[in-house]
Amino acid sequence: MNPLVAPSVLSCDFAYIARDMEMINRSAADLVHVDVMDGVYVPNISFGLPVVAAMKRHSTKPLDVHLMMVNPERYLQDFRDAGADSISVHIEACTHIHIAVQQIHKMGAKAGVAINPGTAVSALEDIIRDVEIICFMSVNPGWGGQSFIETSIEKIGRLKELILKTGSKALIEIDGGVKLDNAQRIFDAGADILVSGSGVFGQPDPVAAIASLKSLTRQ
Ligand code: DX5
Ligand code: ZN
Repeated sequence: MNPLVAPSVLSCDFAYIARDMEMINRSAADLVHVDVMDGVYVPNISFGLPVVAAMKRHSTKPLDVHLMMVNPERYLQDFRDAGADSISVHIEACTHIHIAVQQIHKMGAKAGVAINPGTAVSALEDIIRDVEIICFMSVNPGWGGQSFIETSIEKIGRLKELILKTGSKALIEIDGGVKLDNAQRIFDAGADILVSGSGVFGQPDPVAAIASLKSLTRQ
C-alpha cells in the first residue's frame, strides 16, 4: 500500500495561490492540507475564511482543514461553508470535543482530532472511534519548516495500538517535519496520511516531490 499525501499550503506562495493549487491538482496528492492559525492558540496567524474559500475555488482535491484556534466550535459551519471536506480540531482546544465531532459530522464533513506532541495518546481513547482522522502533530503547531520530533515515531506506534485495540477506523495523519528523507520511516511506523509543507514547496519540482512521497510502499 501507498500513503495518502497531503501537501500543506501553509508553505505555498500566497501571492500565487491559484497557481499552487493547480500544481496540486496536477500532482498525485490525495488531499490539500489547510492550516488555519488564529494568533491565540498558536502565536502565528496564517489565513482565514476568504482565503480557504479561494483555495476551494481552485482545487479539484478535498480540502483537509486543520484548525489551530481557540473555540473552534464557533467557526465549524463557516469553514464547512468555505469548502472544508474534513475538519480537524485540537483536543487541547475543545472543552467538549465530542460535541465538536458531532457537529462536524452533522455538516457532512469528515471529522479529525489533532493532538500536540506533549499530549498523551491516551487522551484520545474515548473519541478515537468517532473520528475519521487523527491529526498527529510531529512538531509543535504554529509554523511550517520545523524539524520532525523523533520521539514521534514511538508515539505513532502507541497510537496505532490504540486504534487496533478500540477497533477505530481513524486514519493516522502525520503533520510536521515530514520530508523525503524521513517519510519512509514515518510511513513504516504506521502513518496513513503524510502532510508535507516545506518538504513539497521547498523542492525545485513540487509535483515530483509529491510523486516520491506517494510512491512509498509498505506491506
Ligand atoms: C504546523 C502545521 C503543519 C505545517 C507542516 O503548525 O500544522 O501542517 O504546515 O509544515 P512542514 O511540513 O513544513 O513541517
Ligand atoms: Zn497542519
